[in-house]
Amino acid sequence: MPREHTAAVILAAGKGTRMHSDRPKVLQTLLGETMLGCVARAAAGAAAHVITVVGFGADEVARSHPELKDGFVLQAEQKGTGHALQVAWEAVRASGATHCLVLNGDTPLVGPDALQELLDSAADGADLAFLTAVLPEAGAFGRVIRGADGRAAGIVEAKDFDPARHGADTGEVNTGLFCLSVNAIENILFSLTSANRAGEYYITDLVGLAAAEGMKVEALRREDGADLLGINSPAELAAAEERLRARIVADLLASGVILHHPQLVVAGPRAVIEPGAELFGPCRVLGASRVACGARVCAFSCLTDSVVGAGATVRESSHLTEARLQAGSDCGPFARLRPGAELKERAHVGNFVEMKKAVLGEGAKAGHLTYLGDTEVGPGANIGAGTITCNYDGQNKHKTAIGARAFIGSNTALVAPVRVGDEAVIGAGSVITKDVPEAHLGVGRARQANIPWRGRKP
Ligand code: UD1
Ligand code: CA
Repeated sequence: MPREHTAAVILAAGKGTRMHSDRPKVLQTLLGETMLGCVARAAAGAAAHVITVVGFGADEVARSHPELKDGFVLQAEQKGTGHALQVAWEAVRASGATHCLVLNGDTPLVGPDALQELLDSAADGADLAFLTAVLPEAGAFGRVIRGADGRAAGIVEAKDFDPARHGADTGEVNTGLFCLSVNAIENILFSLTSANRAGEYYITDLVGLAAAEGMKVEALRREDGADLLGINSPAELAAAEERLRARIVADLLASGVILHHPQLVVAGPRAVIEPGAELFGPCRVLGASRVACGARVCAFSCLTDSVVGAGATVRESSHLTEARLQAGSDCGPFARLRPGAELKERAHVGNFVEMKKAVLGEGAKAGHLTYLGDTEVGPGANIGAGTITCNYDGQNKHKTAIGARAFIGSNTALVAPVRVGDEAVIGAGSVITKDVPEAHLGVGRARQANIPWRGRKP
């Protein structure tokens, strides 16, 4: 089924009462990614149009996922999964798609294979295809009912399931992943009723309706079906997060990434870690981070949306967010690199150094106890211990520029906006409020006076 002819509807309007949290359930995270983000990535891989049904906490969902906002449809009242699809239908129609994938927003482990199987079934002529799992304990999931011929005849929600009426529990359950022919399903979608224990419009009733109409219905059993089921509780979220973590770590090892204590390595699904990179657990590499071949990330470090270039090292207990380490540079232990921090080739940042929107030039060093904010440091410069760029005047942020091979003495305050020229030297303990020209010594402190005194005789 071509991607252009496919729309995906993500059902994400529910509160998720069983999570016991005020946060909309689809915004709960695993490995630093929201459940909705995981589902939306899978959906976008298979479908050109992604429609998300939002309701509970819609504003919060929009803030977390601005990239999905254009495809939002509001389900003001949550009257069930079938009602959610009804609300989205106009958008499905408007997309011009011939087929519609339906995904629940609480199934973050869904991957491309599962969606491909559904699309293949649709290409073979199925009007309604859905994926099933066989569980030892079917619990609260919808039960799949098959006729004597083995074909799916319906889905009965757990609350309504009665062995006397529906036959013995086979443990086969609905994963909630559907592929629907837009033209065929339109004929039955609006005849759903809420005549069930929960009083909700169930998308699952489409199966019985479609079968009764003589449509082609396919219930496809998946070996990995348990991974496709919705997450409803903190325990299920923790279990899914651990399964995803272990899967990613196994893939990294297979690809040639060197992992120490792999059971303590956390790498997010969007992180790119090249073969030949080396990670020491416990550590976390999250978001859109990249770690190049030959780079090292040491224990207790946490990287989010950060890049570590070839041969660069993040030493122990460092914290990087939207930061870049170019080839051969290093930071830490205990470095804090905030958004816009960049270390050029072979630059070095030592312990208790914080950088924000600051670039340290090639081979430049800031070894100890320093804050560099809104700052550009030239190549080969040395920033002494305790240097502080005073970038904030209480209202606005200002820039500091430090030239190539400049030497900033320890315990210097650089009051921005201020420039220190190439090859300039700043005396230790200075408060620098005026620009220092190239190759000048800048000193801004009280001159030492040695005054005769009686001494400290007993
Ligand atoms: C659903 C299925 C069940 C299946 C299970 C798999 C139905 C009726 N039941 O049950 O057969 O075994 O998933 O995980 O579909 N939502 C809306 N609007 C609503 C209600 C729900 O958008 O009015 C969204 C929720 O945010 C959630 C998804 O739909 O992301 C599924 O809803 P949920 O309440 O979790 O369904 P389950 O009871 O788990
Ligand atoms: Ca669910």
